[in-house]
Amino acid sequence: MRKLYIAGNWKMNITPSQAVEYAKKLKDSDIDKNVKVMIAPSFVCLPDVCRALNNTGIIVAAQNVNNNQKGAFTGEVSCEMLKDLGINDVIIGHSERRQYYCESDELINEKVKIALDNNMDVILCIGETLEQRENGELKSVLKKQVYTGLKDVSDSDIFKITLAYEPVWAIGTGKTATPEDAQEAHSYIRYLINSLYGEKVSEKIIIQYGGSVKPENAKQLMACPDIDGALVGGASLKIDQFLSIINVNK
Ligand code: PGA
Repeated sequence: MRKLYIAGNWKMNITPSQAVEYAKKLKDSDIDKNVKVMIAPSFVCLPDVCRALNNTGIIVAAQNVNNNQKGAFTGEVSCEMLKDLGINDVIIGHSERRQYYCESDELINEKVKIALDNNMDVILCIGETLEQRENGELKSVLKKQVYTGLKDVSDSDIFKITLAYEPVWAIGTGKTATPEDAQEAHSYIRYLINSLYGEKVSEKIIIQYGGSVKPENAKQLMACPDIDGALVGGASLKIDQFLSIINVNK
């Protein structure tokens, strides 16, 4: 049985003081013990949020990381810096990073590998644009993103990876993929993992869905056989909404 993994990506929202308030509320909330929970605040919020959630089992992750170990990269943050704060998890390849900061599959692969070298867990985001879907390119896009994103990732490291399928046209738009569309993509992604790492790995790997997940649609999406959790943007900013997604099966 794969454990449900619900992650909140705050993006460039929530200030450090608001973040601490949120984290304290989350700590005191009733959370389904069968669910793995993560929040990804902005870099400047990480030290305080880590302290607030210390020893709670709630994971605090970074939204991005640089592909170099250290050096002259103004404005960037390294794995070593995150690890020093006690951060062991990072989101890599989010579609906003791909779209607005020109991150290629090759760069994303470098980031994945440096995170793994630093013994971090990764949520690797993949997903097609509306144009690609309409052109019938869904499978070829997912294949390239999975194969290149995971290039040279060993059998022993693959369990440090969670995949997040996020159709770009569903992110922040209020449009959600139908459970059928999402399931179809997830099952194809699992097939790709099977082709790379074998059946055992493909049965175990966690594949989250992301794109306008809300309390109203979470149950239906999470009930799909190949959907093992959610990467939640907008609805994770309101703690009540995030909690009802976390406790979807309670
Ligand atoms: P959304 O964002 O839930 O606001 O659509 C999801 C994401 O970008 O991870």
